[in-house]
Amino acid sequence: DDLERLADDVRSADAVVAFTGAGISAPSGVPTFRGDDGVWDRFDEGQFAYGRFQRDPEGFWRDRVELQRVMFDEEYEPNAAHEALAEMERDGDLEAILTQNTDGLHGDAAAAIDDDAEDGEPTVLELHGNAQRVRCTDCGKRRDGDPIFERAANGDRPPTCKCGGVFKPDVVLFGEQLPGAVIQRARSLARESDVFLAIGSWLVVEPAASLPRRAASTGATVGIVNLESTPCDDIADAVFREDVTAVLPRLRDLAAE
Ligand code: OAD
Repeated sequence: DDLERLADDVRSADAVVAFTGAGISAPSGVPTFRGDDGVWDRFDEGQFAYGRFQRDPEGFWRDRVELQRVMFDEEYEPNAAHEALAEMERDGDLEAILTQNTDGLHGDAAAAIDDDAEDGEPTVLELHGNAQRVRCTDCGKRRDGDPIFERAANGDRPPTCKCGGVFKPDVVLFGEQLPGAVIQRARSLARESDVFLAIGSWLVVEPAASLPRRAASTGATVGIVNLESTPCDDIADAVFREDVTAVLPRLRDLAAE
């Protein structure tokens, strides 16, 4: 079937790249952005835009504390799909994981199977940053987010760094550019891949929307795993409209045979 063919391609490929979106973390309980019960049904994207952060950092942080509560209320655990990718990476079947997610679960899955693996490094490229961290907008220092979100929740808004600069969640906000180096790296990984797997993303926000096409244009086999159809389905070699936790462990097993 399609999955066996894809597993054959994975086995014979030099470079397999996985690209993931909110759908891979949905089975862990992390809310997705769009679709039923999506985060943007409950919040207005504009509340969390970069322009708002610059104009009204106090209000931004007040709303961000609420968003953080909704999105990261629980301690989420990696699911079978994160684990399958981490194992494929450990076993040399996967070159890199590119993710739009800011939940850090790929790094957690890697750390769980390999004590030497640093969280999120080096094979997980977090295109939109990591919501568990904050970054000072002046000195650039990164800090664990929990104590800073707590300060903001208790009225210390906007929370500031020792240097006096304002902290920002270490994520890419709406209206903010992705760092150029990160985009370049993602594009070259896509171009150089022999198999490109797009997993749990609706593939409408850049650069997600163009990476599968970029990979296909240089001859990669493109596989898509997503519950709903995407604008890239037409260029894919195989589309699995199934739950990520049903497809990825099977793909790992078939590729390892
Ligand atoms: P979306 O929420 O747009 O899409 C998630 C996709 O996952 C949907 O198409 C669902 O059908 C699918 N899905 C949900 N559960 C699934 C499951 N168990 N198995 C398989 N598929 C499932 O999320 P993204 O494409 O990641 O940007 O969104 C991209 C970016 O838009 C986000 O990173 C965020 C957002 O606004 C920023 O915050 C900058």
